Amino acid sequence: MRGGAMVDAAAFRDMLSQWPSGVTIVTTLVDGVRHGMTASSFSSVSLSPPLVSICLDRKLYTHGLIADSGVFGVSVLAKDQAELARRFAGMVPEVTDRFAGETWSTATTGVPLLDSGLGWVDCTVVHQHPGGDHTIFVGEVSAAHTARRTAPLLFHSRGWGQFADVLPDVAALSDSGLVAALAARDGDAAWVAEAAARVAATGIRVRVLDLTTGDAAAVPLPDGASGSALVADPGQARQALDLGVPTLELALADPREAAQVVERLGPLAPRTSVIVPHAFLPRCADDVLAAVHVLSGAGVLEICLDDTAGEATLLEIRATLQEAVGVARPVPLRVSLEDRDRLGLVKALTALKSGVNHFDTTLVGLDGALATEDLIRLLGTIDVHTPVDGAALGLLAEHVRRRLADRADLPARRHDLSPYPPDHVGAAG
Ligand SMILES: Cc1cc2nc3c(=O)[nH]c(=O)nc-3n(C[C@H](O)[C@H](O)[C@H](O)COP(=O)(O)O)c2cc1C
Repeated sequence: MRGGAMVDAAAFRDMLSQWPSGVTIVTTLVDGVRHGMTASSFSSVSLSPPLVSICLDRKLYTHGLIADSGVFGVSVLAKDQAELARRFAGMVPEVTDRFAGETWSTATTGVPLLDSGLGWVDCTVVHQHPGGDHTIFVGEVSAAHTARRTAPLLFHSRGWGQFADVLPDVAALSDSGLVAALAARDGDAAWVAEAAARVAATGIRVRVLDLTTGDAAAVPLPDGASGSALVADPGQARQALDLGVPTLELALADPREAAQVVERLGPLAPRTSVIVPHAFLPRCADDVLAAVHVLSGAGVLEICLDDTAGEATLLEIRATLQEAVGVARPVPLRVSLEDRDRLGLVKALTALKSGVNHFDTTLVGLDGALATEDLIRLLGTIDVHTPVDGAALGLLAEHVRRRLADRADLPARRHDLSPYPPDHVGAAG
């Protein structure tokens, strides 16, 4: 039964245009000839059996072809493929061969499947439901493939778009470099301890002990302040706990050690922040992601991705984090970023927009790392809350800077000279 009033066609279209969707290319093959069109009506239908649907205008050429062939493929487009979407929607009239310039695979049914998209499903039509001037084709999936892991192309309000990266509401900081950097250039242990205590009092966890360099005693912190110890192995981890430092940081020399290290950590894993070196080097990406996976599964306290050589670019940081954040969940990812190229804050913003809200910094950037007080100021301007007393921290940074003013030579951050990463691409195999 139909209702009395009919919606105004333009109002209906306008409303539909406000529904955001992904974008796919639906393809088919008839008598060895391939054809394809852009479609956003792709939807998952059932897991068992594996079914998806597409909804096609009965007037379209592709509609008739799929009704005849009984097979179709759906390739999901990536954020940078709007041009391809336009071409397959018939919006680039000068293009005669929509398929040109791309590589296409086939799976079970023989329909073309786009190699450079996010992924595809290969389907056989099992139902055709009438849907007004459209037909709902339900396809049973015989093969599925996920190719690139990057952001999808979106369609909204008659325009192409991408996900906007959303900033987190809160961020947490720890200072991993101040104590070592001050101790290296100011022999006054009492002053170093006071500076560390004052940073901790602003609400930042401070690394107060580095057992990897043979420190014997932790810099004492006031009650309620949070301190951590850098350790190289589970033996040193137990030593740090005996010295009264509650949080452990363990630096892997090589991301491929992760499984072995968590096994040796055993019950200490939930107290340990594990630092993964060379985390943003593209040639180490597989090792780094595998390490993040293992560490997350072991339930470590945090996973810290370290720009060990200090050379990570914005795009490398973004590419790594886009994958690693999801793999790490629910374990928080922390990043340790450098500021030697004075792009440290932009890198931090990139990390924030990629879903990271834990940072390792150093007051005044004394060891080349991003400066704690700079990051606090940035967070304040973009409404990301931190439990840190930013005003107190700013004063403290100024105090440290003035005291060290006569020593202009900022020492380089100590970098691990382990044999990892492999020098050449492909050295691992
Ligand atoms: C973003 C976008 C999504 C589209 N989604 C669909 C869809 O789901 N169903 C449909 O019938 N047409 C859809 N179209 C329109 C077809 O892509 C267009 O009519 C195309 O030229 C059909 O190709 P053909 O005429 O070769 O069959 C969409 C177009 C765009 C730009």
